[in-house]
Amino acid sequence: MTDKLVIFDTTLRDGEQSPGASMTRDEKLRIARQLERLKVDVIEAGFAASSNGDFEAVKAIAEAIKDSTICSLARANDKDIGRAADALAGAVSSRIHTFIATSPLHMEKKLRMTADQVFEQAKLSVRYARSRVADVEFSPEDGYRSDPDFLCRVIEAVIKEGATTINIPDTVGYAVPELYGNFIKNLRERIPNSDKAIWSVHCHNDLGMAVANSLAGVQIGGARQIECTINGLGERAGNCSLEEVVMALRTRRDYFNLDVGIDISQILSASRMVSQTTGFVVQPNKAIVGANAFAHASGIHQDGVLKARDTYEIMRAEDVGWSANKMVLGKLSGRNAFKQRLQDLGIVMESEADVNTAFAKFKELADRKSDIFDEDILALVSEEQAGSAAELYSLVSLSQRSETGEQPQASVVFVAKGAEISTASSGNGPVDATLKAIESHVDSGAELVLYSVNAITSGSTESQGEVTVRLQHSGRVVNGVGSDPDIVVASAKAYLSALNKLHSSSQRVAAQG
Ligand code: KIV
Ligand code: ZN
Repeated sequence: MTDKLVIFDTTLRDGEQSPGASMTRDEKLRIARQLERLKVDVIEAGFAASSNGDFEAVKAIAEAIKDSTICSLARANDKDIGRAADALAGAVSSRIHTFIATSPLHMEKKLRMTADQVFEQAKLSVRYARSRVADVEFSPEDGYRSDPDFLCRVIEAVIKEGATTINIPDTVGYAVPELYGNFIKNLRERIPNSDKAIWSVHCHNDLGMAVANSLAGVQIGGARQIECTINGLGERAGNCSLEEVVMALRTRRDYFNLDVGIDISQILSASRMVSQTTGFVVQPNKAIVGANAFAHASGIHQDGVLKARDTYEIMRAEDVGWSANKMVLGKLSGRNAFKQRLQDLGIVMESEADVNTAFAKFKELADRKSDIFDEDILALVSEEQAGSAAELYSLVSLSQRSETGEQPQASVVFVAKGAEISTASSGNGPVDATLKAIESHVDSGAELVLYSVNAITSGSTESQGEVTVRLQHSGRVVNGVGSDPDIVVASAKAYLSALNKLHSSSQRVAAQG
C-alpha cells in the first residue's frame, strides 16, 4: 500500500456520457491539456470503440499529452480492446480500462450471460488487454451490487491475468460510506493476490454521497486510486467531484494522511473550461468552484473573516485559482500578447490562420467590451472551435425590437447549409422572438428543454452573457453554448450551436457506465 493516491479523471469519458455533454475532438484535447496542467495522474480520454469521433479524440490526446497516463475505456471484448490499444498507440504512458457487469441483475437482464460466461470473458479480456499494453484496469460494473463471493473469484482471476488496477464501481450511486469502505476492505482481505493490484473507487452521486463514499473507500477500504470528474460531471447526478475530493484530502491531511499530486491552483480554470465547453453550469453554492464558495455575505462572518481569516475559512480561495480571475487584455493589446495569453491558457491553435481568426474575434469583442478576462478568451475560443468542427448553421447578424406594451420582434440573418437566410418572428420576449425566427426556417422539431443565461465573469452587467440551450429530439440531447455582451445574440449563437450538434452525424455506442 502506498501513501500516494492516484487521481484518475474521467471527465472526458464518464463525464461526457452525461446527456448533452458530448464534446468534439478539439474540445476534449483542450480539456486534456488543462487536466495535464492540473497534474492528474490518469486521464480517461474516452471510449475509443464507441464512435470514430471518440477514437480520433483518444488518439489525439494520447499523442499530445506527455505527463499523464492516457486511458481508454473498452468493453470486455477483443474488438473494443483492440480499438482502445490502436487509439492509445502514440501515448508515452497508456492504460486500457476494460469492464463487464457482475451484478446478478446486470448479468441476467442486460448481458443475458451466466456468471461462468462473465468470469471467462473477464479473464480473456484482461489477458488480451495485457498483450497490448502493460497497464490494465478492470472494473466489475455494478460491482457494489454484486455477490462478494463471485467478485472474489473474478478479481482473483483477472489479477492473475495481469490486471494492475481493480476498480469497484458504485455504478448506480447506491452505496453509503461505511458499507462501501467495508465492502472493499473485505474483498481485499479475502482475495489472496489482492496486493498485486492498486484498488480504485468509482462512485456515482445519485444520493449525493459520491465524494463521501470515495473517501471511505480510501480510508476504510484501502483504495489508492479515486475516479472523479471536474465539477462532478457525469451521468444522472454525476460522479465524485475532483475538486471536492482533492480539497478534502488536502484540507484534512491530518486525518487522511495521504498525498495527491494535483496542482490545485489549476482547479478553477479546469472547472470553468469544463462548464463553458459542455454548457453544464456550476451552481453558485457548489463547494470549491461555485461563485459563492468563498463569499461571506452575513455580517457576522464578514466581521470574523476581516479580523482573522480562519474564523470562517478552512481553505484559501486563491489557492484553488480564484485570484487568477484578473483582467488580461484590452483593445490595445496586440497579436503577440493575445497569442501569449492563448499559450498561458493552454490553448493550442492548429495553424497561424486559426490564430488570426481568433484574434479578429478578440478585437471585435474588445471594441465592445473594455476588459477582456481569461474566461472571455476561453468562451471565444470554445465558440470558434465548436464552429469550425461541423458548422451547418452560423449567425450573421440580428436585430430585435422590444418596447413596453409592444410585442417583441426579431429579424435574424444566418447561414444554413451554405445559404444565407433572413427570417423574422415575433415572440413573448426578444429571445423567444429570435429563437422562433431561426426555428421557422430550420424546422428542427426539437424540444427546448433548458435555457439558462449567466454572466461569464463577476456579477457586473458589463460581463458577457453566456447562454446554454439544451435541445432534445428523437432521444438525443444536445447542449449549445453561446456568449456575447448582448444576451439576445448569445441566445441565437447558443441555439445555432445546439442545432449544429443535433444535426451532426456522430452517433455513439452507449458506454454502459
Ligand atoms: O459507473 C460505472 O460502472 C462505470 C464503469 C464503466 C467503470 O463507469
Ligand atoms: Zn461510471
